[in-house]
Amino acid sequence: MRMLNKEEMSIILQRPDCLTCLPMIATLPNGRSVIIDRMTDLQLTETYCMIQEAAQHNDGYGIDEFLTEADFRNEIVGSDCFAITCKSSGEMLAGFILAISKFYRGAAGVVDPFIIVKRSERNQKLGQFAFQKAVDFSKKLGYMGMYVDTFSNNVAIQRILEKLGGFTKVGMLPLGGRLNNGRLIGSVIYYKDLTDDGLNVT
Ligand SMILES: CC(C)(COP(=O)(O)OP(=O)(O)OC[C@H]1O[C@@H](n2cnc3c(N)ncnc32)[C@H](O)[C@@H]1OP(=O)(O)O)[C@@H](O)C(=O)NCCC(=O)NCCS
Repeated sequence: MRMLNKEEMSIILQRPDCLTCLPMIATLPNGRSVIIDRMTDLQLTETYCMIQEAAQHNDGYGIDEFLTEADFRNEIVGSDCFAITCKSSGEMLAGFILAISKFYRGAAGVVDPFIIVKRSERNQKLGQFAFQKAVDFSKKLGYMGMYVDTFSNNVAIQRILEKLGGFTKVGMLPLGGRLNNGRLIGSVIYYKDLTDDGLNVT
């Protein structure tokens, strides 16, 4: 587990809340009205449970990625966490967390999104909707780029990245994590530039 360094912490603490659009009301592709807002503490616990459930189904998260909720909360210290809830029932349908990427060796410049859709709500384009919001909010929060680190068997996320556009497959990690069936799995890394003019990287 990686703790934030002093510089990263001070940048986060100084960052103004640029998301003045929240809470935001939106309509999903299936016509349902939702509210997008910062997660409550209870919703963060719910998100941890959804991630654990996904890991048990070999779905996007490693079985030993977050052994306890405390590990999970430690991992996302300083992240921006958002919930998408049904406007009429208040039920949380999906969550997305904008964490600081470990692949950038400096203060909070590149974002690493965690996306999770409730099992019963999948295959209705909610994942694509949540991912688009993750990109939009990351730009507003001033991130220069986004790294997506996804297990090689995660067809849905890779399909979403393809549909959103602007993501380049930049690498593969032979050892990405462990699935619930004990099998080790590789990761695929995608990158998206979030700046308006494009970065001049040497
Ligand atoms: C990945 C995830 C967020 C996708 O959410 P979703 O709401 O079901 O996805 P969408 O309905 O927006 O589907 C997006 C595309 O992926 C495809 N897709 C969805 N689930 C799929 C699956 N299990 N296998 C293959 N394709 C799939 C859809 O058909 C759609 O493609 P299309 O537009 O060409 O039809 C969701 O499955 C999830 O929460 N998984 C567990 C957590 C996870 O993997 N998070 C990402 C970690 S990097």
